[in-house]
Amino acid sequence: MDTIGVLTSGGDAPGMNAAIRAVVKVASARNVRVLGVERGYDGLIEGRFRQLTRTVSWGLAPIGALQSEGNKGGTMLGSARSSRFMAPEGREQASHRLQSLGVRGLVVIGGNGSVAGAHHLAIESPIPVVAIPASIDNDIGCTSDAIGVDTALNTIVEACDRISDTAQSLKRAFVVEVMGRQSGYLAMSAAVASAADAVLLPEHHTPDDEIIESIANLIHRNLATERAKRLVLIIKAEGVSIPTDRLVSEVELRLRDANIDIRGAVLGHIVRGGAPSFHDRMLAGRLGLVAVEALMNGVTGHMTAWRTTVGGGRPTSDPMVELFDIPTVLTETTALLDGSSEITKRRMRRMEDIQGVLSL
Ligand code: F6P
Repeated sequence: MDTIGVLTSGGDAPGMNAAIRAVVKVASARNVRVLGVERGYDGLIEGRFRQLTRTVSWGLAPIGALQSEGNKGGTMLGSARSSRFMAPEGREQASHRLQSLGVRGLVVIGGNGSVAGAHHLAIESPIPVVAIPASIDNDIGCTSDAIGVDTALNTIVEACDRISDTAQSLKRAFVVEVMGRQSGYLAMSAAVASAADAVLLPEHHTPDDEIIESIANLIHRNLATERAKRLVLIIKAEGVSIPTDRLVSEVELRLRDANIDIRGAVLGHIVRGGAPSFHDRMLAGRLGLVAVEALMNGVTGHMTAWRTTVGGGRPTSDPMVELFDIPTVLTETTALLDGSSEITKRRMRRMEDIQGVLSL
């Protein structure tokens, strides 16, 4: 194998650059050239490739910019949510591009949609494909962590600390909405770390009226009774159907006689940016190494998983990393999101157990 490709796809995640850097460094050390594909699967279809290795007197080395770019957020290759790649014609074009350039393997770095795309390419084309999980949502099956989750959580916790400073100065309640699509993982983890009083998760499927009622009661109990707390912090996952501004105004309406201030803050894309944490860089390095080794060992249609949540993957040179065939990953991803996975059930039981503790 003398040339491989690497691309980032879907929503960017902090640590994607570190994963690209790891792939290029490991490949160079094994004398394998790396072509970077710009703007995800769209770039693959359009043939937008860029050299990420250069020839030096002793063989191959990463291009100079990789060293510092690897420490930054976003993705230096650009990303896209490609609708063209979802059709077989798009994937056929992509496969031709790779073959015409002599690319013998592809590393796909991205979330669950990107991993599904990697699966299709692996079965429809002769090019071996290995995926690396990267998404702040942490909604990818079989891996306990995806690249980007730790940085996103650090950002959320810092934002909540800042909001708590101002909230307690003015004795206010805050509803802070965090990203995560249909997964409540970020909200749940951040709530524990930020000492929030409550967390609203899509996995609970609570009707809007019940949410409004319980949040109004919680705020009243904590700010307008003898408990007299100085702030109430509620973390809401974006997948919870009631919009944050509606939740705030409905609760305000119910508490209009209690003279309580309530504010909402939607953190949005702030959570997706920023330099990756140590943990995300470490994850990127270790998953990147295993992905290149897998391609070189003839593996295709697999994803690297960190401290597997389900067991039964293929062992690798790293005791913390296993390889899972992508159909297994996608089945577990669906179960994670529809609540039938043991992991989701355990998380929800845990959250129910601590509801009373959170509001103390
Ligand atoms: O999947 C990552 C994510 O940031 C989700 O948490 C969020 O729902 C979505 O992407 C936002 O997508 P976009 O950047 O396309 O608005």
